[in-house]
Amino acid sequence: MENPFAEGENRILRPPATAMVIFGATGDLNHRKLMPALYNLAEDEYLPAAFLVIGTGRTKLSDEQFRADMRKAVSEHSRREVKAEIWEAFSKNIFYQPLDIGAEADFVLLRQRLEAIAAERGETFNYLYYLATAPNFFGAVATNLGKAGLSERPGSGIRSTSLVVEKPFGVDLESARTLNSTLRQSFEEKQILRIDHYLGKETVQNILVFRFANGIFEPLWNRNYVDHIQVSVCEDIGVGNRAGYFDQSGIMRDIVQNHLLQMLSLLCIEAPISLSDADSIRDEKVKVVRAMKRFRVEEVASHTVRAQYTRGFIAGENVNGYLEEQGVRKGSSTDTFVAMKLEIENWRWSGVPIYIRAGKRLPKRITEITVYFKRPPESLFRGRQVEELEHNVLAIQVQPKEGISLKVSSKAPGPRMRVRPVVMDFTYGSSFGVPSADAYERLLLDAMRGDATLFTRDDEIEEAWALLAPVFEAWSSSNVPVHTYEAGSWGPRAAAALLRPSGHRWRRL
Ligand code: BG6
Repeated sequence: MENPFAEGENRILRPPATAMVIFGATGDLNHRKLMPALYNLAEDEYLPAAFLVIGTGRTKLSDEQFRADMRKAVSEHSRREVKAEIWEAFSKNIFYQPLDIGAEADFVLLRQRLEAIAAERGETFNYLYYLATAPNFFGAVATNLGKAGLSERPGSGIRSTSLVVEKPFGVDLESARTLNSTLRQSFEEKQILRIDHYLGKETVQNILVFRFANGIFEPLWNRNYVDHIQVSVCEDIGVGNRAGYFDQSGIMRDIVQNHLLQMLSLLCIEAPISLSDADSIRDEKVKVVRAMKRFRVEEVASHTVRAQYTRGFIAGENVNGYLEEQGVRKGSSTDTFVAMKLEIENWRWSGVPIYIRAGKRLPKRITEITVYFKRPPESLFRGRQVEELEHNVLAIQVQPKEGISLKVSSKAPGPRMRVRPVVMDFTYGSSFGVPSADAYERLLLDAMRGDATLFTRDDEIEEAWALLAPVFEAWSSSNVPVHTYEAGSWGPRAAAALLRPSGHRWRRL
């Protein structure tokens, strides 16, 4: 595949000299996402001219062994086939340093290794640390980096340092606050990049372009014209081999608190002063979550639905129910599906219902944001009540068919005045003819460039947890039922019932 960008543009995008350290490098995330993303950045010539990546982990491996393992991982998970000559050059920049996160001395060895490579290459690097470990190690890594003098900026051979933190960022408001304060003992907020890979998806970034590079939608983007909004994050996969994590987390913490609320915030923000400084956008996003109506604990049962999948069929295959999955606690009440009715209490959105749902083991993988516009005030069409006219529906499909469609009513051919819905659409594939990069490619590149726009700030994370606090409180009592749904269905009946009082229905996806 040809590199879609012009040479000159590549040069502008290339970040300064970077030494990246991956904590948890023998784990799944590095194999499936990080190393394939780095390889693809190398192939596109986006990596810094001076670049190295050091994987760390408890397992003792040589550089050569680690490189061989990474070659295999990249071959399996890269979006493009690995080209031997590109791998050859790229892999010279891959190193491995055994490290026990609890051992301060190992961080001193890490520092010495970084300094030795920097000296050998005659370079001064920005240090980028990536926390791809289990979340209970995040604090310890940051603290030990601090103790080893690795969190400081200008030190010998270091130009600047930053810390990329994977999700989950806490499990509730209190744990997120504690983690924030632990990280801030060694790093300043502006050095901390909390990753939410949905923000790296082209279609999610396109929400901003769509809203602010077009003149025709923004005047309609408010309570006067929008009837309601739906956001769906549907997956056909189950919990797979991640039950140990998922059973403690549930879909609300896994998807809603982060990915789904981030997309919704972008959809609903006021125009930021600028798109080129990180805080302008983040200031506006946090206002959206802050303006979301907080439930009283007693309201949770009528505004949320939680459920678990039972045994069923997906794509003709018989699949286990959640409670039968390996690693799930006996009698677990963990949510694998959630639906909620939200409201943003501000001048733009007051009174507009926002329905969100997320679930595992639904019939297919699809993430979509749908804006339903109000119907015309009167029907001029004989035999048709206003309620029978369809809403204009703007659908932003984040995945898998990345694109945007708009449903409008049209006259069907023939002598009669028959009204029929038609859809105008745009898809990335056919309009741009190049496949989208993986979200991690964009986010790693931004992290190397020091651009925090697509990373989540401390206050955004805390507001999102604060919004959900009453939900978790109500769920911990037995008053809120855990519904069930058959794997391969669109969720429990109760999810449809959530919309019924306002006369709405979930979009058929
Ligand atoms: C992750 C969740 O953050 O996002 C997973 O932990 C989920 O449970 C995944 O499957 C979905 O991401 P994507 O990019 O495949 O939609």
